[in-house]
Amino acid sequence: MSIATLAQPVSRSSPLPEPPPPIMTMRGVSKGFGQGITRTEVLSNINLKIRPGEFLAVVGFSGSGKTTFTNLLAGLEMPDEGEVLFEGQPITGPGPERGLVFQNYSLLPWLTVRGNIALSVNRVFSHWPSRKRRDHVEKFINMVGLKHAAHRRPHELSGGMRQRTSLARTLAMKPKVLLLDEPLSALDALTRSVLQDEILRIWREEQQTCLMITNDVDEAIIVADRIVALNPGPRASLGPMFSVELARPRNRTELNHDEYFKGLRNAVTNYLVAVRQKDRDDQAARASQPRFELPELEPIVPSKPSVSVFSRSVSNSGQ
Ligand SMILES: Nc1ncnc2c1ncn2[C@@H]1O[C@H](COP(=O)(O)OP(=O)(O)OP(=O)(O)O)[C@@H](O)[C@H]1O
Ligand SMILES: [Mg+2]
Repeated sequence: MSIATLAQPVSRSSPLPEPPPPIMTMRGVSKGFGQGITRTEVLSNINLKIRPGEFLAVVGFSGSGKTTFTNLLAGLEMPDEGEVLFEGQPITGPGPERGLVFQNYSLLPWLTVRGNIALSVNRVFSHWPSRKRRDHVEKFINMVGLKHAAHRRPHELSGGMRQRTSLARTLAMKPKVLLLDEPLSALDALTRSVLQDEILRIWREEQQTCLMITNDVDEAIIVADRIVALNPGPRASLGPMFSVELARPRNRTELNHDEYFKGLRNAVTNYLVAVRQKDRDDQAARASQPRFELPELEPIVPSKPSVSVFSRSVSNSGQ
């Protein structure tokens, strides 16, 4: 195609390409826990469309409802209001097409690293020959650097090693949608950046869709196509969507001097700081309000005791 052709404006009559339908949708989703006065409203009116093939990062403060949000997408929780769709169909529970890396690892304590990964691989790829399944398990053990610890059980692993096992277990299932709930939070900075690169490589090679929860704005910018903030709870809602217009692969050292990167990091951080400050101000205002509205009461002025009551009591006491 010549440059002249490229430079021609798009004719008004030519239809714009239809965007592909979202792979996952949250429509008017609200979720709370408990009953009566112990009830906590966690999420309120969440609307989100996750595009097929994108890498979406969700940033938010601790306790804002990020795990609840991920569990709803995984089908481990059901919304109180609204609906969660996968490829246009309401989800009714967990499924192998949506792989979740749990924040608390959730490994089976009686199985080794290899056993935990193999359990999922054998379930999802039961139609593969056993040799292929074994090689697949070993590939993911190596990928997360746990070859030397493959025979250990979870209680013999550090927090970071458990996190890597949990990550390998989910990645090995090759789900269409990867749901990562702070998957790298227990890792040192070096291991963290190595695994960020591995997640990005697998996401690209497998053409997956990925949603990663993180509380690290830099990490969100390094990995994501779009970043959305989860506002502080209770009744947390989604904040603005930030597009990450940075070419891939992204070089961390170069990005530290990149004006666009620094501007985006400031924009996301400033939004989070401002929304938390507003939340604190609102809480302080609520705390200074009286907790109960007292009704207007007319004082009851006791009238003189009636003679009959007085005389009866006197007469009773004399019996
Ligand atoms: N099963 C549950 N029953 C009752 N309350 C719950 C339940 N799950 C979560 N919550 C409450 O919902 C709120 C949000 O919890 P959630 O774990 O989703 O937050 P989070 O953003 O993931 O926190 P963190 O950053 O610490 O992981 C908290 O107040 C929590 O106590
Ligand atoms: Mg959480």
